[in-house]
Amino acid sequence: MPVPSLRGQRVVVLGGSSGIGYAVAEAALADGAQVIIGSSKSTNVEAALAKLGPGASGAVTNMRDEAAVQAFFDHVGPFDHLAYTAGDWDRARAGPIAELDLAAAALGMEVRFWGALRAIKHALPHLSHKGSITLTDGVRTHKPGKGMPLSSAFGGAIEHLAKGLAVDLAPVRVNSVCPGIVLTEVWNNVSEERLTKMTAGLPLPQAGDPADVAQAYIYLMKGGYTTGQVLIVDGGLMLV
Ligand SMILES: NC(=O)c1ccc[n+]([C@@H]2O[C@H](COP(=O)([O-])OP(=O)(O)OC[C@H]3O[C@@H](n4cnc5c(N)ncnc54)[C@H](OP(=O)(O)O)[C@@H]3O)[C@@H](O)[C@H]2O)c1
Repeated sequence: MPVPSLRGQRVVVLGGSSGIGYAVAEAALADGAQVIIGSSKSTNVEAALAKLGPGASGAVTNMRDEAAVQAFFDHVGPFDHLAYTAGDWDRARAGPIAELDLAAAALGMEVRFWGALRAIKHALPHLSHKGSITLTDGVRTHKPGKGMPLSSAFGGAIEHLAKGLAVDLAPVRVNSVCPGIVLTEVWNNVSEERLTKMTAGLPLPQAGDPADVAQAYIYLMKGGYTTGQVLIVDGGLMLV
């Protein structure tokens, strides 16, 4: 049996202009794929494409806007794998429940959950039936934090969406990656001292490299017998 490879396949990364998504785009390119990235700001898409180089293309799309998502996939055409890493890091869902603005908190689902569903709905007419979809949740799903119950709930919704779709959309495979603390641009405002403190007690005592997390997405694209799974990449955070 030949070793699975993405050579000659088309991989779409929504959220591919930075962080984990950018690392997925780089890793897919390195494995021989043709990569198409999408995100909401043209400056971000252009800057990422300039760094990714040959084999990569991209377009602007806003995951909050169903018509824009449909137009993105109509532009992309036939493809093999979708990685969904788009996320907007709103803070409205954190804090004491008694003070929660429910309308603002509900918007926390807009990009990560409803955006993923918009993407899947409009990807399907173009997605190979031998292909895959990989969603993204986060470690708070399994390790709740004080003042953050909605992060656990939203992550759970994404993981269970992946499981439900794995049955509903079979033979297309659907999985989710659950990252721990991963050193992307979103941590730029957090001091090194605080990050060291946050990661010191982990079995692997440092923040994750986006390139390491990207390998989980690549495995889920290539692992032809894996569906409905959550792949946790957290340096062992869940264990301690
Ligand atoms: N980094 C971590 O420690 C960590 C831990 C656990 C879970 N996660 C999850 O992993 C995912 C990626 O995180 P990250 O650290 O890589 O974040 P990031 O660097 O901020 O990347 C987010 C990506 O999503 C895009 N995006 C945001 N809003 C969008 C919209 N409305 N439409 C289309 N694209 C949009 C951004 O580009 P534009 O601004 O151009 O739209 C960017 O490309 C998030 O869902 C996050 O919750 C991250």
